[in-house]
Amino acid sequence: MTKNIQTMLQTLTLEEKAMLCIGKDVWHLHGIEHLDMPSIMMTDGPHGLRKQVGEGDHVGLNDAVPATCFPTGPGLAASWNTTLIEKMGVALGKECRAQGVSVLLGPGANIKRNPLGGRNFEYFSEDPLLAGDIAAAWIKGVQSQGVGASLKHYAVNNHEHCRMTVDVIIDQRTLREIYLPAFEKAVTTTQPWTVMCSYNKVNGTFAAENKILLDDILVKDWGFKGIVVTDWGANNNRVEGIKHGQHLEMPGSGDLNTKKIIAAIENGQLTTQELDKSVARILELILKAKTSLNEEKVTVDLNAHHKLAASIAQESCVLLKNENFLPISIDKKIAVIGELANNTRYQGAGSSKINPFTVEQPLDEIKKIFGRDNVSYTAGYHINDMEDAAEQKRAMTLAEQADVVFLFVGLTPKYESEGFDRQHLDLPQVQLDLINALENQLSKTVVVLQNGAPITLPFVDEVPAILEAYLGGQAGASAIAKILSGEVNPSGKLAETFPLALEDVPSQPYFPGTTKQVQYRESIWVGYRYFDTTKTKVLFPFGHGLSYTTFDYSNVRLSGDTLQGQSAQLGRHNLIKVSVTITNTGDRAGAEVVQCYVGQATPSQPRPKKELKAFKKVFLAAGESQVIELELDYRAFAYWNSEQSVWLAESNDYTISLGSSVEDIRDAVIVTLKTDTPLAPANTALKTYFEPAKRDFHDEAFIALLGHSIPQEIPLTPYHLNSTIGEIANTSLGKPLFDSMLAIFNTMMGAGANDSAAEASRLMAQALVVDMPLRNLPVFNPQYYTEAQIVQIINALNELENKQKDKQ
Ligand code: BGC
Repeated sequence: MTKNIQTMLQTLTLEEKAMLCIGKDVWHLHGIEHLDMPSIMMTDGPHGLRKQVGEGDHVGLNDAVPATCFPTGPGLAASWNTTLIEKMGVALGKECRAQGVSVLLGPGANIKRNPLGGRNFEYFSEDPLLAGDIAAAWIKGVQSQGVGASLKHYAVNNHEHCRMTVDVIIDQRTLREIYLPAFEKAVTTTQPWTVMCSYNKVNGTFAAENKILLDDILVKDWGFKGIVVTDWGANNNRVEGIKHGQHLEMPGSGDLNTKKIIAAIENGQLTTQELDKSVARILELILKAKTSLNEEKVTVDLNAHHKLAASIAQESCVLLKNENFLPISIDKKIAVIGELANNTRYQGAGSSKINPFTVEQPLDEIKKIFGRDNVSYTAGYHINDMEDAAEQKRAMTLAEQADVVFLFVGLTPKYESEGFDRQHLDLPQVQLDLINALENQLSKTVVVLQNGAPITLPFVDEVPAILEAYLGGQAGASAIAKILSGEVNPSGKLAETFPLALEDVPSQPYFPGTTKQVQYRESIWVGYRYFDTTKTKVLFPFGHGLSYTTFDYSNVRLSGDTLQGQSAQLGRHNLIKVSVTITNTGDRAGAEVVQCYVGQATPSQPRPKKELKAFKKVFLAAGESQVIELELDYRAFAYWNSEQSVWLAESNDYTISLGSSVEDIRDAVIVTLKTDTPLAPANTALKTYFEPAKRDFHDEAFIALLGHSIPQEIPLTPYHLNSTIGEIANTSLGKPLFDSMLAIFNTMMGAGANDSAAEASRLMAQALVVDMPLRNLPVFNPQYYTEAQIVQIINALNELENKQKDKQ
């Protein structure tokens, strides 16, 4: 703690200290006038600035100032281009500076455990290394502008269903190897100004007051120096939060929790030192922000940001399939079909939804390149899912008359959003019906997908080309058009597996769990780690993405064949360097993402056959070669040993594979690692986890993995402050409360209209109300409820319950 902060602490009253630990409103912290500390602003979000001008609402659709809308998470990760993401971060930081925003609420580094996760469209990857590198680049860029990032949602917030109360039951190894490393990488390499803790519980304790996550891991293990801010409404017990490393509660909860902090100090439940620790960090944050706020005003070149958004979008598109069909020569007669071509979906719904200053439409961009006269268009289907036989017919006629069809399909807002999970992996039925109707034209059809997460493609074998455009931001449309025409050579690679069917996903039987608990029984078998190890056929593998040119891998070399590692001395002093020559063997310039996977020969613990441990994107002119060097440190070979709480790399053989996707391995070498950890015999207690193909993660196996019994779910009754509105909605006292909250949320989110966006808002409002814990009613709606009233309702509900039980 600096002297300056120490002095400030001495001049603050207890009331002021308590106040500083709780937001002033939805987006601001309290300022302290006599210390000349301003009230700073933090706001969303990951792919653009969402600074609301009117009344703030954390999930709301209240308009924000115009800003640049960049591609969302899956596309950013599919670029595998950390330099580009850092540039995006710089642009985001500048837009924040221009608007006086001090902390931008992103990036979201949660792992995609299951493709149904409602917010996967905001997250990067199923792989922690890639997610961590992209998150780190984003933060580096933003923070270079004197604006803080908020790395979120820490931790294991991998689905939406009951996200505010669900208890994630997970073993330590899975936590450390799969769900935490993206956060770890970002924290240890960039020191984000803030980390946002998630809503859920982790192994019985809310993330907002979880000592293991916040204090032991984040601060002690990773050396985090910034502040932990709650996700909006994630605070459970303010005093416990402060004790265990959560510094700031957002949004403000009026004097509800300030009073509790003051009382806790007065009755000795909280010490002044504990409170001061939080306050000091918050003061440091405000000081950093103040420096930027006092500097000269930044002006933003929005056109330059649009261009940057366009170049990121170009690298975010993934060419999934191409049977010598693309690119299409610009003299062809094109039928553009699909309402998404003219009403593009370019970002997701919820707290990250921004107000772009301009949005391109694919149809316009295609016309610009292929010529107005060569391009015809019809919607073919409606994004509100209304059936329309005449539209379908028009589409069939246009397709028949064209040389080539560009068919735009994807997920519309009601199919993926913050607040609720997806129900299935399919495209909307009206779109599938259209594709069936176009059956005879599919051999000349390029399918362009706009979606934020994997979908099934039952027509995959019938079309010659498929382009995954994800949610490409405001300039996504020109990226698509340029790739279709060949002006841009696609270079995106999937950061997630596209499974053939939902049933193939190992977490599916336990997803999303009950309203109270979710068990991560599948352990480390997430994404390609499972599919690749078990040789399960997928639709498109992790790392996959085609180019209009071809690349050759040759001359793989290792700097040595042994690695002397000390488990206690992790670090970059002890590296194996892998080099490979990549040659562009085609006739046009292009980029390849060289992926390096590591797999242990005979591990003592269940381990994936391959895990991504390094990658590099390389840009090559036609015919050009380049030697690529990748580095593998001790950690690249290590697993997390839960008994000893340490990373261990066993002395063993390891295969280092280099390839263009997890399935398309071009060369592999074996390295014999000698470390201070001898190879242990196989851990027989985890037998079923050594055989993931069987997917037999029964109780005993899970208990062995956890190292303790499986915690019981909290019973529904007696009701308490963390019972959800949904759980009491069927009771006589709960029903009116549910109805009134739903009405409030529907109005707030503009859910009244009769279009697809409003339908999504209705679904989101419904989910938010159903899943909201009763403790949050006085936080979000202080004008309607006090905590005392809520406690009264709970007591009355429990009395009724007891009476009913007595009667039975
Ligand atoms: C979301 C966060 C977001 C916050 C503020 C929450 O509902 O989970 O990601 O940053 O709202 O809008």
